[in-house]
Amino acid sequence: ERRPIIAIDGPAGAGKSTLARRLAQRLGFLYIDTGAMYRAVTWRAMQERIDPLDGERLSALTRAVRIRLAPGYQSAFPTRVWVDGEEVTRAVRDEAVSLQVSAVSSHPGVRSELVAQQRRIGEAGGVILDGRDIGTHVFPRAELKIYLTASVEERALRRAEDLKAKGLPIPDIAVLKEQIRSRDNQDMSRAYAPLRKADDAIEVNTDTFTVQDTLDRLLALYRDKV
Ligand code: C5P
Repeated sequence: ERRPIIAIDGPAGAGKSTLARRLAQRLGFLYIDTGAMYRAVTWRAMQERIDPLDGERLSALTRAVRIRLAPGYQSAFPTRVWVDGEEVTRAVRDEAVSLQVSAVSSHPGVRSELVAQQRRIGEAGGVILDGRDIGTHVFPRAELKIYLTASVEERALRRAEDLKAKGLPIPDIAVLKEQIRSRDNQDMSRAYAPLRKADDAIEVNTDTFTVQDTLDRLLALYRDKV
């Protein structure tokens, strides 16, 4: 008998990692930030100057790198990340990585390797995974599936807050909106395991709610379902 699995999917900047991390703390579950894994591969690929369209080299790279994750420090860095022993917690959140990660993640060979790792870590249950394809593809039998959304406006504003908290320059809101839209489009339109709401996922919109409100809502959904 395995313990429950919670899948949280949704577009960029909807608050998945903040909520998944806090929900995991409350339930004593392991949190697996799958976006951090795709970011880690992207960071390494950029270092090696691999073309983001070169699926073959990217797949070989994904099989070769060793990615380690550990709980992070705050919402801005929800997960600590190491690639082949080097800590890249901050680097994987850089804009340069964010701009390329969807292209790198579109390759089936990259995804199948990371999905295999995610299944290995998660199969015993007692885990929360967040990402784009958890409920549809990685763990389609997850006990609780959440599809977390927020308007593009709200997500851009939160992104600006994040940058401010990190002491980084804040681009125009219109630029942030465009970046969010573009990443969503790429993640939703790829051929293999695109972002979409699983039929049995519960959609939770976070637009007008605080993190605490949404956390309470997710805890209630968990208690109802499991
Ligand atoms: O969640 P985060 O924004 O860090 O994810 C970064 C990117 O990694 C996503 O935009 C997507 O391209 C990719 N990703 C994915 N499948 C997942 C998690 C992330 O394709 N399960």
